[in-house]
Amino acid sequence: FVHQLADESVGMDELLISPLRLEPDGSLPLPPELYGAARANSSGRDLAVVVQRDELLAAHAACTVPVVPEAKADQATDAVARAISAFAAWNHTPVAQRAAVLRFAADTLDAALPRFGALLVKEAHKTWGDAVSEVREAVDFLRYYANEAERVMPPQTLPGPTGESNTLRLEGRGAWVCISPWNFPLAIFVGQVAAALATGNTVLAKPAEQTPAVALEAVKLLHAAGIPPDALQLLHGPGETVGAALVAAPGVAGVVFTGSTQVAKIIQRALAAKDGAIVPLIAETGGINAMLVDSTALPEQVADAVVQSAFRSAGQRCSALRLLCVHEAIADGVIEMIQGAAKELVAGDPSQLATDLGPVIDAEAFDNIQRHLLRLHGSAQALLPSTDAVPVLPNLVAPQMFEVNAIADVTAEIFGPVLQVVRWRGEPMDVIRQINALGYGLTLGIQTRIDSRAQALAAAARVGNVYVNRNMIGAVVGVQPFGGEGLSGTGPKAGGPNYLLRFCAEQTLTINT
Ligand code: NAD
Ligand code: ALA
Repeated sequence: FVHQLADESVGMDELLISPLRLEPDGSLPLPPELYGAARANSSGRDLAVVVQRDELLAAHAACTVPVVPEAKADQATDAVARAISAFAAWNHTPVAQRAAVLRFAADTLDAALPRFGALLVKEAHKTWGDAVSEVREAVDFLRYYANEAERVMPPQTLPGPTGESNTLRLEGRGAWVCISPWNFPLAIFVGQVAAALATGNTVLAKPAEQTPAVALEAVKLLHAAGIPPDALQLLHGPGETVGAALVAAPGVAGVVFTGSTQVAKIIQRALAAKDGAIVPLIAETGGINAMLVDSTALPEQVADAVVQSAFRSAGQRCSALRLLCVHEAIADGVIEMIQGAAKELVAGDPSQLATDLGPVIDAEAFDNIQRHLLRLHGSAQALLPSTDAVPVLPNLVAPQMFEVNAIADVTAEIFGPVLQVVRWRGEPMDVIRQINALGYGLTLGIQTRIDSRAQALAAAARVGNVYVNRNMIGAVVGVQPFGGEGLSGTGPKAGGPNYLLRFCAEQTLTINT
């Protein structure tokens, strides 16, 4: 994608990363020592960050992935008890001071972009474009939640009758368990932790077992920035043992989880079975994300959006496009363009700057995708050459596309670069009803030149994030608050103005004066 996005103003020694992530106050993030420049790309609309290639490659050469010791499940109760003990002091730390610590952590992370980017390439097989973009997103989360905590947490005076004063106060709830996935091992990990800490909570962080080193380095950085050790503890280990033990530990005040729908439900049941207080769960899960393309859509724009949305990050984004619903009048042309563009993608070693998609995270993910591909080869028409044709690199899956008969045939989220296509005719609103009936509700793409239709379809769609006439991945913190409904999660949206409130306890104080 780097070469697709690059324009003639980018030099051979530079790497163009798009989109540029703005600072919360709308300014450009330009630490001059790190970024060469920020400039308009060829569309003249989006800005992009330019990073020096040499810095990234040097960081990669110097990067070793630390071994992270696994916690034992029986450590969970003690760790939660320590987090509960640390809560009062952190919760009573003025919000401005907590925010300052997070901002300092953001600055440190920003300055360490090449080092963290290299770790993401090595441990999570991210391409350079995805790695740099993810570090930027983590920085954004830290700054955004620092600002948001200062916005939402000060006491509010509420109206009341004469002779009475009414105040609404917010504070932390206690010790939160933060459970994160491997596909954004830095941004989602840091986002969950920063939200809980900004609001005065203490944290037990359980990263995905595939990516503990990124989490360890992030925790070290946060401790160095001033988060007390017991206010943020890392417990790495299998979800079924360490994760489950943390969820079950006495006194947990809340759980924030990002991962599969199946595990979210396991956690929900475990929380419901606990004695004592009702424990809130924030769950952000997967999706069968669709793009509806009507007969007025621009085929080139559709093809570009589809290739980015379905295949970037090897399809390992919860936001990724899984189901393309294209009007039969333009289907042949659109499919042909996607085939052409997909064949140009470079699947291979992610540490190479020209690589568009690297291997999927591990052999288990690869085998799971292969099972789906086997099923699709038996039941659907393959529209791209099978992965067998790709040079061997462990766990590499080249982009795959299949034509299926009906939207209802698509019943599972395939977490890889696998796109299913359905042709439709008739009313687009019927298509939206069928997409809604799948039960997920994360992202939706709409491609049409009829504005009123886009508005009506978006309003009818039961999804969290709708993207019209563009790709449907890469939500920007504070710009496209991210999260869904139904099988895709509970809300509130990460990186949005309502997120921190769910981490807070609220108290009204009424005084008869
Ligand atoms: P997963 O559900 O297998 O694991 C997520 C986390 O849960 C890991 O840390 C894991 O160790 C832990 N876990 C597993 N079993 C547990 C249990 N019984 N108790 C407590 N914790 C447990 O998901 P994954 O494979 O790491 O991530 C991919 C999934 O995440 C996809 O479905 C994707 O769509 C989803 N996802 C959603 C979002 C979003 O914002 N909506 C973002 C990224 C990924
Ligand atoms: N926030 C990520 C995206 O929008 C998952 O792609």
